[in-house]
Amino acid sequence: MMRSLSLGRHHTATEDTGAAGPPSPLVDRPVIEFREVSISFDDPPRRVLDRISFKVCKGEMRILLGPTGSGKSTILRLTIGLLRPDEGQIFLNGQEITAMTEEEILKLRQRIGVVFQEDALFTSLTVAENVAYRLLEQGYALEDVEGEVRRTLRLVGLEHAYGMMPSELSGGMSRRTAIARALVGNPELILYDSPLSGLDPVIGRRISRLAMRLRDLHGVTSMWITQNMDEVRYLASHFYERTTDGRLLFRREGDRFCLINTKILMLAEGRVIFDGTDELFWSARDPHIRQFLP
Ligand SMILES: Nc1ncnc2c1ncn2[C@@H]1O[C@H](COP(=O)(O)OP(=O)(O)OP(=O)(O)O)[C@@H](O)[C@H]1O
Ligand SMILES: [Mg+2]
Repeated sequence: MMRSLSLGRHHTATEDTGAAGPPSPLVDRPVIEFREVSISFDDPPRRVLDRISFKVCKGEMRILLGPTGSGKSTILRLTIGLLRPDEGQIFLNGQEITAMTEEEILKLRQRIGVVFQEDALFTSLTVAENVAYRLLEQGYALEDVEGEVRRTLRLVGLEHAYGMMPSELSGGMSRRTAIARALVGNPELILYDSPLSGLDPVIGRRISRLAMRLRDLHGVTSMWITQNMDEVRYLASHFYERTTDGRLLFRREGDRFCLINTKILMLAEGRVIFDGTDELFWSARDPHIRQFLP
């Protein structure tokens, strides 16, 4: 018999009609905070981020925009301590990761779901082992995490790929495996780097709705990197809501202003050029922003 997992917080994104319970109250404390963070690379020499500051609050989905090479993936790598800044401080849940040892950072990273831009699957492990990896690192045995891995694969429509090797997957299937790997074990913080690139639009919408459900019903904090404005509009204008009698509703924002817990951060030339709600973003006059809008 399969033992049940004990992975801290228990929310189950599939149980839409179940008793997932109300999300915890959203308090205004930053889950991620960058303070005056700068980083340069030598080859070619360039200051990619120049005194960047921003906060991502509990339960917020923060969309990270910017032209190619503007430093979006660099911000993701800094957030999980894969890179260290030259200057400035980075905090996760109030803890300064820029002051932590590698060992402390490794531990922290195990609790963060990350979809890397380039999937980065382990080629010698099966799909299931790839998805289970973060939990296995925490000391769980594969048979203990099997149920959780199957549930997560089902969420992304890949239940049939459980025993497949990465070399047998299409591009879209690899991407979905990478997404499942980020979602497994119900992390409270998920970082998505261009998660829908290479996915067909129907699957892309499904993944977006999954992320919105985690945002709206489970208070999951996330960072979502993209260059696709259609994606941003969808994420910032729809939301999930549970009625008092437990039904799940998926709705469009309509005229109710700033209801959705999604904000935009836009980078250009090493600086933050926009930090605020999507409503303000769509009406922004800045030419850097305008050129991004259709
Ligand atoms: N390890 C590295 N060594 C040298 N340069 C790097 C390194 N990592 C990133 N860069 C450079 O930093 C800049 C920002 O890279 P980054 O990958 O963060 O951009 P991005 O905004 O994610 O772009 P894209 O939209 O194409 O994914 C680029 O010019 C890149 O070449
Ligand atoms: Mg990138």
